[in-house]
Amino acid sequence: MSNELQNIKNRFGIIGNFPALNRALEKSIQVAPTDISVLVIGESGVGKEFIPKIIHSESRRKHQPYIVVNCGAIPEGTIDSELFGHEKGAFTGATATRKGYFEVADGGTIFLDEVGELPLQTQVRLLRVLESGEFMKVGSSQVQKTNVRIVAATNVNMMKAIQDGRFREDLFYRLNTVQIDMPPLRDRKGDIHLLFRKFAIDFAEKYRMPELVLDPSAVHYIENYSFPGNVRQLRNLVEQMTVVERERTVNVEKLSEYIPMETHLPMVVNTPNSQKQSDFGNEREIMYKILFDMRNDINDLKSLTSELIKNRGANDLSSQEKTLINRLYTQETQQNGNSNSLLYFEDSHPVVQTPTIMSTPDDSYEDIEDIEIEENRPESLSLQNNEKDLIIKALEKHKGRRNKAADELGISQRTLYRKIKQYNLED
Ligand SMILES: Nc1ncnc2c1ncn2[C@@H]1O[C@H](COP(=O)(O)OP(=O)(O)OP(=O)(O)O)[C@@H](O)[C@H]1O
Ligand SMILES: [Mg+2]
Repeated sequence: MSNELQNIKNRFGIIGNFPALNRALEKSIQVAPTDISVLVIGESGVGKEFIPKIIHSESRRKHQPYIVVNCGAIPEGTIDSELFGHEKGAFTGATATRKGYFEVADGGTIFLDEVGELPLQTQVRLLRVLESGEFMKVGSSQVQKTNVRIVAATNVNMMKAIQDGRFREDLFYRLNTVQIDMPPLRDRKGDIHLLFRKFAIDFAEKYRMPELVLDPSAVHYIENYSFPGNVRQLRNLVEQMTVVERERTVNVEKLSEYIPMETHLPMVVNTPNSQKQSDFGNEREIMYKILFDMRNDINDLKSLTSELIKNRGANDLSSQEKTLINRLYTQETQQNGNSNSLLYFEDSHPVVQTPTIMSTPDDSYEDIEDIEIEENRPESLSLQNNEKDLIIKALEKHKGRRNKAADELGISQRTLYRKIKQYNLED
């Protein structure tokens, strides 16, 4: 890697070595000294905002203004005036003449973030300023000149926006003289653990706590997660775990509480815990296992709520707790396609909208029993058998050593003990 690239990474705190990321950064350094317009494209949270900063700081404009405009956040009615300024009396409330960003940033750089959100009438003005350096304040007919370098960014599909008539094609090509693509995190798996460690150090320092560390299985798990929110999501995840988790070594189980399982399913097949696929038959069996685990967790939750209600008496529950319980049970019945919605606490209004509810029917405990009995419905038996088989296979493979079997199954020893009991596999 060139020294220049390494310097940029150090200066901006950019972590990662993936070739496509390096290319994007190198391209930024290359185009910086020119005045060419640049369009940065990439999913949300990939780090697009580094690019205009690098370009500005590496250009001869670096001592001139650098202005960031979030086009998606400015109301349509005021954006022209924000960008290009207005004359006194141009509209109600325009009590004085005001300079816009294009005038203030003369000689410098403007970063137009979320450029795809610009209203069409603003796009016309922007095209003009890009082509000729000319603009007019709102309410004025006097042409002004400015010399501004534009870097724009978008996480929306611009081709689609053009097709839908929401973005001008001529403006797109004008902005897109050079395009820089920021790769999504899922395409640079090798950077995920690096980023995790960087954020773990940052947040340990910020919150004065020991650093979080991933165990090897957790590294594998996280590297195979799809990260729809990209680096931002990873950063938030590490921050949250740094503050919440007592145990500083994070394992797969802990991680899976934070990273939603359903978007994670395909990689489970490849974890060291699940080892060779052939050991466990096919992928489907593993899916069954995961679904079954989730189902059991939900049932555990239900038993817990049921216990709580029995011990504390339903009348002692707060309205918030009642709402939660209602939601738990209504979701279950909706998922089962059961139209007899089984509200735990009756109410004539939608549960979510009415936190202060509800009367408690005396027979509500029966509802709980109903739900527990549901576990034995015929269609679930095949899943149950599958799970039982998997457990038997895992125990046989590890000659009855439960810790190893639990590891292989990707569940906690506690859960395995529970299931061994449940299926009478104790001998
Ligand atoms: N390679 C990286 N190294 C360190 N931090 C990064 C990296 N990429 C992104 N980040 C951090 O992730 C967060 C999100 O990045 P950024 O704000 O640039 O996303 P974005 O691409 O502009 O997303 P959006 O389209 O949602 O605005 C920021 O806190 C940024 O510092
Ligand atoms: Mg951004």
